[in-house]
Formats: sequence, C-alpha cells, structure tokens
Amino acid sequence: MSRYCEDRREFLKRALITASAMPLLLNCGGDAVAQKTDGTILDSIKQNAIQDANGAWNGAISAPSNVTSRILLSSESDKGDPIEISGTVYRPDGKTPAPNTLIYLYHTDFEGYYGRGNGAHRHGKYRGWMLTGPDGKYAFRTIKPAPYPENRFAAHIHMTLTTSTMKEDWVDSILFEGDRLISARERSEAGRKGGFNPVLSFEKRSDGLLYAVRDLKLMA
Ligand SMILES: [Fe+2]
Repeated sequence: MSRYCEDRREFLKRALITASAMPLLLNCGGDAVAQKTDGTILDSIKQNAIQDANGAWNGAISAPSNVTSRILLSSESDKGDPIEISGTVYRPDGKTPAPNTLIYLYHTDFEGYYGRGNGAHRHGKYRGWMLTGPDGKYAFRTIKPAPYPENRFAAHIHMTLTTSTMKEDWVDSILFEGDRLISARERSEAGRKGGFNPVLSFEKRSDGLLYAVRDLKLMA
C-alpha cells in the first residue's frame, strides 16, 4: 500500500481508537509571532475541520486558541537532528499569501515511531498547529523524523491545511532529498497537493540546525 493511501488508512484506523493526550506545543522564544487569534477566525476555520463520528481524529479541530505562526515541537534533550522548516502558504494562484491558514502537522520520532507506550497520542508528541500570519508565513522547529521501522516508506511529515473556506485536507507530505525510500510515484506526483516541491533539501547553518523551505499552495 502506498503512503498516499496510508493517510486514509490511518484516518480509518483512527476512527477505532480513542486516544487522547495533551499535545506538546511550545511557542518559540522571543521571535515567535504572536498571532492575535481572533476567536471568530479560528471558530470559522474549525467549521471546516475533519470530524469523525467518535472524535478520534483531532487535527485542525483541536487547534489551541493561542495558536501562533511559529512552533517548537522538540526539546534539546530529544534525540535526532534538529531542523527548522519554514514557508509561505499561498492562495491557489501560487503568488498571493494566504493568511489565517491553519496547518496541522505530525511526524515520527528519530526511529520512525509515532506514539510510544500506553497513553501516547497516535501521532506521538511531534504534532502541532500553526496559523499563518498576514504574510502567509509559518515556521516550526523539531527533529528530523525517520522512516517507519519496517523501512518501506520514506521519512515524512504529514500536514493538513484548513481555512475558513476550505475543508481540512492533506497536502503532499514533506520528504527529504537523499532518502532512498522516496518512490518514483512520490517524485512524479510531487506538488500535486499543496503545490511546489515537497522534497526538501536542507542547508546547515552556523547554529547547527538544518533549515529548509516548504512553500504551499491552497487547493482551488
Ligand atoms: Fe506517516
């Protein structure tokens, strides 16, 4: 089964699981853009969030009221390469920034596992929400995920986008250039959902972090 299908498979599995856990969601330091979230905006966006019958899926619907455009998902003690991914979300024209776009993301840990142990959220602790600012920009810091332990699918970061006029939907997962597990299909269909190139190349800066850009385009 392809990883594209797996998003749906995971969703169906989620419908059978009643997992709940407080998300690890930390605001970045002083450079955090404190998106003054008008509650009505977030409420409007959540009207378009995926809601399954028993509430097992909690992506956009669970965004915190203090959601910002920048988040930190990992701590210094976490194993794995620290990375920062930033970008701009554009309207379907690919040119006009799209403010107030809610991004939900989740990924595995450095060994390819989501939640570990009883009580862990099925998306693990590396999950969070961002709301793009007036310039459409967002950024998050975390650790680089690894392929699933069975080593069949490339390492990836899942993302959904939701706006007040667009229902929550997955865009192409972020992949990492050089990963031998990236499939020919992922290469050929890159950009099909979310536009631009989801296969990222990192630049290592003097602070030791790996930086990459993932721009996104809302689907018409
Ligand atoms: Fe996954």
